Amino acid sequence: MNTPVKTLVFAGSTRAQSLNRRLAAVVADMAQADAASVSRLELADFDLPLYNADLQARGTPHDVIRLKEIFHAHAAWLICAPEYNGSYPALLKNTIDWVSSPIAGDPLWSSAEKAFAGKVVGLFSASPGALGGLRGLSHLAPLLLNLQCWITPRQFSLARADLAFDAAGTLALAADRAGAHAVVQQTLWAARILAPAAI
Ligand SMILES: Cc1cc2nc3c(=O)[nH]c(=O)nc-3n(C[C@H](O)[C@H](O)[C@H](O)COP(=O)(O)O)c2cc1C
Repeated sequence: MNTPVKTLVFAGSTRAQSLNRRLAAVVADMAQADAASVSRLELADFDLPLYNADLQARGTPHDVIRLKEIFHAHAAWLICAPEYNGSYPALLKNTIDWVSSPIAGDPLWSSAEKAFAGKVVGLFSASPGALGGLRGLSHLAPLLLNLQCWITPRQFSLARADLAFDAAGTLALAADRAGAHAVVQQTLWAARILAPAAI
C-alpha cells in the first residue's frame, strides 16, 4: 500500500459563497477518496497585510510563518483560483509574495523558494463565465514554476460554476467530475515521483 500523499487544498477566495471554495471541497473529497492525506486551508484564517518590504523589515507576521510551515509540509497542492480581470486574484498574489519572501538571517526561512520548491501543484478554477476562469490559471502557472513548483499538465476550469453544483455541493455533471478528478489523480501520481521526500 502506498503512503498517503500529504495534500494541501485551498481556494484563492475568502468569500462565504465562493464557487472556488465549493470546488475545493469537491476536490478535497476526491483526493481523500484516492487515499491522500488531505488538509484544507482557508486563507480567511490568516491575517496577512498587503505585502510591503518596510513592513516586513519590522518583522514577518506570525501568520506568514504559519503559512510557510503549512505549504512546506505538503508534497502536493490543489489550488482553486478565481479569475479576476483575466488573471488570478490579489489575494493569491499577496499570499504567495509573503510566503516566498525570505526572512534574512532566519535559519529555516532565508530561502525564498523553500516552501515551494519541488511541490506538485494541480490547478483548478471556477467562474460563472463560459471559460471557467482558465485565463487566470495561465498566469498563475508561470508564477509557481518560477518558484520551482511542478505544475501538472492537466488543469480543470469549471464553466458556469454558479449552475454546476447540486444541493449537496457535488458537481452535477459527470463530465465535470471526471475533469476535476483527472487533475487530482495526475497530481497525486506525480507527487509520488517528484516529491517523495515530502510525502
Ligand atoms: C474584480 C473582478 C473581476 C472579475 N473578472 C473575471 C474574469 O476576468 N473572468 C471571469 O470568468 N470572471 C471574472 N469575475 C467573476 C468571478 O469569476 C466571480 O465573481 C467568481 O464567483 C469569483 O470566485 P469565487 O466565487 O470563488 O469568489 C470577476 C469578478 C471580480 C470581482
